[in-house]
Amino acid sequence: MKYTISGYLAAILVFGLAVSPAADGQESHFRGMMQELGRQMGRLSEGIMADDMVLVASSAISIADHPKPPMSERIRIVSELGTDATAFRAIDTEVHDTAMAIHTAAKEGDRVEVTNGFHKLVNSCLACHTRFRGRLRSTLTE
Ligand code: HEC
Repeated sequence: MKYTISGYLAAILVFGLAVSPAADGQESHFRGMMQELGRQMGRLSEGIMADDMVLVASSAISIADHPKPPMSERIRIVSELGTDATAFRAIDTEVHDTAMAIHTAAKEGDRVEVTNGFHKLVNSCLACHTRFRGRLRSTLTE
């Protein structure tokens, strides 16, 4: 908690940010980013089903390199999550690493590793949703 508050203050000092909530009901960048992840996940499963390793590799790299939400939203997430922010980041890193592994496996034509990675990736997406989605949905839109 102590870490979170000082991180929060440091971010304000460094970036001179005014942390004001988004306008009522306004769609967050974070949610738009998630919708894009959902689309890429669709392309990924399409690529696997069609045995199209080029599509698998390109969707996997888009997932691995997804953009970050703006600093103001990241601050809001971290201040809402407090000490749980570490777990949140760890799942995000897991998604990145798994998507990179799928990308590499697709380039090598290793279909077993692609499929194993896909299962792991779905589990990581859902692990974060189960744990944090409800909690952050209101934080990001209020
Ligand atoms: C580190 C946490 C985390 C990870 C990892 C994560 N998500 Fe999400 N996702 C969220 C949260 C939080 C929301 C709710 C956002 C909101 O409602 O504002 C969400 C919402 C979504 C939505 C719904 C967006 C909408 O319009 O309501 C989709 C689709 C989605 N995620 C796809 C994915 C996919 C695909 C992956 C894995 C490749 C993934 N997410 C990984 C946290 C995560």
